[in-house]
Amino acid sequence: MDLTQEINRRRTFAIISHPDAGKTTLTEKLLLFGGAIHVAGAVKSNKIKKTATSDFMEIERQRGISVATSVMGFEYSGAKINILDTPGHQDFAEDTYRTLTAVDSVIIVVDCAKGVEAQTKKLMDVCRMRKTPVIVFINKMDRNGRDPFDLLDEIEKELQIKVRPLSWPISMGSTFKGVYNMFEKKLNLFFSDDKQRVGDDSVEISDVFTSPDLDSYISPFTATFLEEINLIESVYHNFDREKYLNGELAPVFFGSALNNFGVQELLNCFVKIAPSPRKATTEERLIDPYEPKLTGFIFKIHANMDPNHRDRIAFLKICSGTFERNKPYVHVRLGKNIKFASPNAFMADKKSIVDFAFPGDIVGLHDTGNFKIGDTLTEGEKLHFKGIPSFSPELFRYIENADPQKYKQLSKGIDQLMDEGVAQLFTSKYNGRKIIGTVGALQFDVIQYRLEHEYNAKCRYEPFNLYKACWIESNNKAQLEDFRKRKYNQLAEDKHKREVFLADSSYSLHMAQEKFPDIKFHFTSEF
Ligand code: G4P
Repeated sequence: MDLTQEINRRRTFAIISHPDAGKTTLTEKLLLFGGAIHVAGAVKSNKIKKTATSDFMEIERQRGISVATSVMGFEYSGAKINILDTPGHQDFAEDTYRTLTAVDSVIIVVDCAKGVEAQTKKLMDVCRMRKTPVIVFINKMDRNGRDPFDLLDEIEKELQIKVRPLSWPISMGSTFKGVYNMFEKKLNLFFSDDKQRVGDDSVEISDVFTSPDLDSYISPFTATFLEEINLIESVYHNFDREKYLNGELAPVFFGSALNNFGVQELLNCFVKIAPSPRKATTEERLIDPYEPKLTGFIFKIHANMDPNHRDRIAFLKICSGTFERNKPYVHVRLGKNIKFASPNAFMADKKSIVDFAFPGDIVGLHDTGNFKIGDTLTEGEKLHFKGIPSFSPELFRYIENADPQKYKQLSKGIDQLMDEGVAQLFTSKYNGRKIIGTVGALQFDVIQYRLEHEYNAKCRYEPFNLYKACWIESNNKAQLEDFRKRKYNQLAEDKHKREVFLADSSYSLHMAQEKFPDIKFHFTSEF
């Protein structure tokens, strides 16, 4: 097996969107084209329709049993494609942020009627931070949506990225005619009566301006269409792949995922332009995927919700070298050798034991508690991957033991759930009480439920009004000491014993920042 070839043909990415824009539908259609599934409806939506814990638990249980949906791999046109699934619910945004650390590019789905929504913006902030290349898919063109030019303007403004349409819609809603693929100069016609079609209904037109047949296909929209194409060619620069790869320019496609329209064009272009595995940053140095020695990091831990099988699966993103089954690798944090007898690879909705895996691939490792998010595997080098931060949580509660007999179970449960990245635990320096901080309210219920069902422990919460927890550091020892004395009752430690300031209001945070100018207040754990 040629490592270079294997790396070059890999495309590892995530589809992200505001809930309901069509992420699940698009994922499914991509898998259909990849031949990875054969019927629509095979991909389970991980969307939580009601904000109900029971709903979440049901989905988690299903996913726990079939963890394969976390990564969907398939072969298409010589490429090995890995789609990383991200949770749809905004309370699990942090899970999505972490998944974004393991992808080399992203497809953003935007609803043509709703435009750029709140969650899309937040996710794009993370992509921008990491300079992740993004492609935008404007979905639901079979419905009446906004003017395509307005949408492009909004994307540029709200997502702060230059855009370049590579396909262009001809009308929309009930008069939607199709999409002109500017990348391949093909016209794709839309037949709304054939909803689940996977076929080739494209007409090749080498020059839309001189084609005598164009009008017969798209009348009465021919004149408007030609005007728009003219406008695009004059307003937007030619597509520049380098800019796309640097995260400065987003190619835009239009279509309808539900009708399987415009999806294949997207996929064909994606395979051509999307990056193969990129260099990864560690505290020590840049890692080139083509290096022969294995390096990789854990970006996700999935608990098995089946109480009969308590093991977890840690998801390893391979960053360089070849991963081999049964070969010992160094777990850098623990400083010990570990080998894996049954590592899993993921293909569509199945998982199977894999002998070799390459940069860009995700391998599922059975874990009995060795792994935390961010852990590194190497062949001996002491590396620490960057870019897997914890974000400053926004909701806080004290967590208390509700069953004194089960103290041990509770603390083991809390420990493991925190390692999985479900929430963050802080310990008050003032009174030693444990505080759980989360990004979404649903996590509190999830923690309580899982402690009870997986660890046989009971917890109860007490309210704790807090604005933000932020990590602090300073080179000015005297100022830091002074701060510690004055703010003693507002200091805590995170699970790595780093110092955290618990600000009860934005005002008090602001005052602290002003009074102690040499102290840095960080809103992510990586600084
Ligand atoms: P998400 O994962 O981003 O949350 O979105 P999802 O794919 O679940 O799609 C959200 C809703 O939008 C679904 O309808 C889906 O059928 C619909 N949808 C997706 N793509 C298109 C499209 O191209 N055109 C139209 N008209 N609708 C589209 P739902 O009623 O919420 O769910 P379901 O019960 O139909 O599955």
